[in-house]
Amino acid sequence: MKRIFVTRRLPEPVEARFARSFDVTMNVGDRRLSSADVVAACDGMDALVINTSERLDAAAVAGLPPSLKAVGTYSVGHEHLDLDALRARGIPVVYTPDVLSASVADNAMLLMLGAARRAREGQALIVEGRWKGWGPRQLIGTEVTGKRLGIFGMGRIGREIAGRARAFDMEIGYHNRRPLEAGAGLYFADEREFLSRSDILVIAAPASPETRYWLNAERIVRLPQGALVVNIARGSLVDDDALTAAVESGHLAGAGLDVFDGEPDVHPAYLRLERIYVQPHIGSSTLETRLAMAEHVISGLEALFAGRNPPNRLV
Ligand code: DGY
Repeated sequence: MKRIFVTRRLPEPVEARFARSFDVTMNVGDRRLSSADVVAACDGMDALVINTSERLDAAAVAGLPPSLKAVGTYSVGHEHLDLDALRARGIPVVYTPDVLSASVADNAMLLMLGAARRAREGQALIVEGRWKGWGPRQLIGTEVTGKRLGIFGMGRIGREIAGRARAFDMEIGYHNRRPLEAGAGLYFADEREFLSRSDILVIAAPASPETRYWLNAERIVRLPQGALVVNIARGSLVDDDALTAAVESGHLAGAGLDVFDGEPDVHPAYLRLERIYVQPHIGSSTLETRLAMAEHVISGLEALFAGRNPPNRLV
């Protein structure tokens, strides 16, 4: 059996599934590992299964032992890996596209509804024992039904979100480099036009140097008064100072965030702004998805070891 090191504890059935295919060494204590820890743990391993909580930059890639023949990232995002450095070292990488799109899209709807219907405030009212009973002025929210949804980054996850939003009679618009096939929604090549018609903006584009702090003060001001912002992509796409200032000023009615710049640290304003509904990066966190992600990584690594080229190969 090939030897693999897995950087985080996985749900029990997922660990059992890996153990049927590989000789697995786990990060038993599940503590967050530095790049140096990951490199050291790879000694004598045939493959590394990494998560988005660990990084492999160029220096770490250079330090990987000669035994290491492949990397599988247990994620669809891959900004934590220096792919050029891995390519240059001839270490192939597989990842988990597609299988988490439905789960992340479900979570996008939760965040959208949570922000629109002020879920954080309602929850706090009850669990803190402050609720005095029904009242017609209580927690007046925004309806998502019939609103204009703007999806920034209409990839696999964006399309799943659009499908769900259609059930809410939302008008789908999107901004991408290129338009998709007819029926995907209204394509806006012009970013200003896209923003000005997005009652609810969902950020679903990958993290990259080009998208860093994409949602900044200049773009937020173009959103309609009372708009909502949802981020299910990466925290690095949002300028936290600008977003929190817009919620405080009332220009934005609220936001729903699953991801944060510098996770697990969060901007202090997110701790107090109740109009911002927050989740701790759990978009893909369902057992069905975690198992499907494992199948992707396992079949990808097995194919690489057999000298084949798996469809989920990144490098
Ligand atoms: C992913 O797969 O990229 C998820 O965000 C989990 O890190």
